[in-house]
Amino acid sequence: MGTKGKVIKCKAAIAWETDKPLCIEEIEVAPPKAHEVRIQVIATSICHTDANSIDPKFKEALFPVILGHECAGIVESVGPGVTNFKAGDKVIPFFAPQCKKCKFCLSPLTNLCGKLRNFETPNIDQELMEDKTSRFTCKGKSIYHFMGVSSFSQYTVVSEVNLAKIDDDANLERVCLIGCGFSSGYGAAINTAKVTPGSTCAVFGLGGVGLSAVIGCKIAGASRIIAIDINSEKFAKAKALGATDCLNPRDLDKPVQEVIIELTNGGVDFAIDCAGGSQTMRAALDSTVVAWGSCTVVGVKFGDKGLEVSPIELLLGRKINGTFFGGWKSVDSVPKLVNDYKNKKFDLDALVTHTLPFDKINEAFDLMHQGKSIRTVLTF
Ligand code: APR
Ligand code: ZN
Repeated sequence: MGTKGKVIKCKAAIAWETDKPLCIEEIEVAPPKAHEVRIQVIATSICHTDANSIDPKFKEALFPVILGHECAGIVESVGPGVTNFKAGDKVIPFFAPQCKKCKFCLSPLTNLCGKLRNFETPNIDQELMEDKTSRFTCKGKSIYHFMGVSSFSQYTVVSEVNLAKIDDDANLERVCLIGCGFSSGYGAAINTAKVTPGSTCAVFGLGGVGLSAVIGCKIAGASRIIAIDINSEKFAKAKALGATDCLNPRDLDKPVQEVIIELTNGGVDFAIDCAGGSQTMRAALDSTVVAWGSCTVVGVKFGDKGLEVSPIELLLGRKINGTFFGGWKSVDSVPKLVNDYKNKKFDLDALVTHTLPFDKINEAFDLMHQGKSIRTVLTF
């Protein structure tokens, strides 16, 4: 007696309201509808965006919701019309769809996809399935999905365009990071900034995203990688992954951008902001050299007004880029990234500082807020 076609009862962590610990509850997960896939989540990690989404400053949040968007799992069953997946496949879901049909997917210039539906608020537009209904119920209430993934649940339902099949021998407790944080930071350096051999780089914010950007700068052949964080405890790992210099803005007697300009004879070629917010965006842009310096924004701080940029700054040749899922066309790229990890091109193990049972999810959030973890992987 399989579970295909039936409602599955399982455990999930629900955010009932803003700024409160998550509650572990029994939920019902409906079978997948057309072009949807139901997945058993095996490992999920926590990204700062999960915390941002229940921060009171984020006014657009919808409750109750099952957060989580960085995970790996196994297909339990597929809905009508799904041909690329079958029960038992190992998979990684992601918030960045790739339908392979829309004008964006057909362009080599972008990894955005028209299936995101609303480009003004891409991260909050995936809180229901495409038919505007939810597959989750708890205590008789419909529960919102999150970023098209909702991995803080033993079972979840995702669209087939938000999913990649990966190798059967993939280590799900590690490759789950490829579902967001690793790909975003690494791709910011490789695909968006396009860091060049011998160049100088500055990476702001050394969480899972920023350390992945450091890995990307190193693999791209940067000769100098300046890593910046207000928490000096992050520096040992940054150095181990390739940072050549580490700066804590709180320990300096002048703005960090001035120090970076002095260290690099006028500014870095590439700055990547993985902390988010107007302060680090400003510092990152100011750290870049005139004429060709490029600043890539990865981090997002909800409720922050962002950057005011004068035309002169841009006339002098600096560039500002944003990156979405590190510029990767998700369905095509995620299986390749999983292989690159297997072939030891980069190290995901260094990013996983803690592994906890799923029930300890609130402890994992505390570790992140206290700056003690890079990534905590939760297992069911
Ligand atoms: N200057 C330098 N570093 C900072 C600053 C600042 N003003 N503010 C915060 N940081 C550092 C933190 O100390 C932390 O080490 O940025 C790092 C952020 O790491 P995490 O909290 O682990 O976040 P991460 O999951 O890496 O996500 C980074 O991307 O997805 C977005 O919303 C997310 O903005 C966040 C960013
Ligand atoms: Zn598309």
